[in-house]
Amino acid sequence: MSNRRPYVGGNWKMHGELAGAVELTENVAAAIGEAVEAVDVTLFPPFPYLQAVGHALRQAGIGLGGQDCSPHLEGAHTGQTSPAMIADLGGSAALIGHSERRNELGEPDALIAAKTRAAIAAELQPVVCVGETMGEREAGNALQVVERQVRAALEGLTAAQVGTAVLAYEPVWAIGTGITATPDDAQSAHSMIRSLLGELYDAGLADSVRIIYGGSVKAANAAELFSAPDVDGGLIGGASLKVDEFASICRAAVSA
Ligand code: PGA
Repeated sequence: MSNRRPYVGGNWKMHGELAGAVELTENVAAAIGEAVEAVDVTLFPPFPYLQAVGHALRQAGIGLGGQDCSPHLEGAHTGQTSPAMIADLGGSAALIGHSERRNELGEPDALIAAKTRAAIAAELQPVVCVGETMGEREAGNALQVVERQVRAALEGLTAAQVGTAVLAYEPVWAIGTGITATPDDAQSAHSMIRSLLGELYDAGLADSVRIIYGGSVKAANAAELFSAPDVDGGLIGGASLKVDEFASICRAAVSA
């Protein structure tokens, strides 16, 4: 890690029910405590619980985000949630391009780029997820795939706009599998992404954007992963549903 402020996101995916979401939020806020002074923490609950989780967060200093957003700002788009609606409920961020949406729903790069632009237009922080499948890695194409995804997601954005984003490198084979990338594998993807930002924009922007790692991060491996120089924190799935695990991961990000 560097002098970039660390970032940890808790992606709850499609888990839980209302009462449990509120309880988890209160317990996470209490367990993280003052660590929030040194790490940006954002919770991404399921959409139906966004407002309740926002209320439960109160003054905890923890951010709130949607797990997705529409590429449209408003209109006849049945079943979608606009970035402005997320902001209206107190949200400040949106996950975009998570591999579970790319793969289960077939979200293409162009749609992910449109969602990124919509989030920025509504002044939400886009947390843009990229990452290769095991097949792509085994074929030796991991870095090319990630580069294509980053280029596509940022297409047409200015340096100032990209400066509001967080990029999440999440190798698909590491998500929910218990298999984590090695710190060296994570570092090589992260440093490629940072060089690409330097090439597309400038060195100052490349140095300032947070690039976080996701894929089976736990309390037991967080410190090692976050010690890689270009890993600025994590996007946490399964372990974000466990209060002590998630709080330890946030503390590991502070001390990395
Ligand atoms: P995981 O999920 O931590 O359960 O592997 C990470 C993610 O999908 O963001």
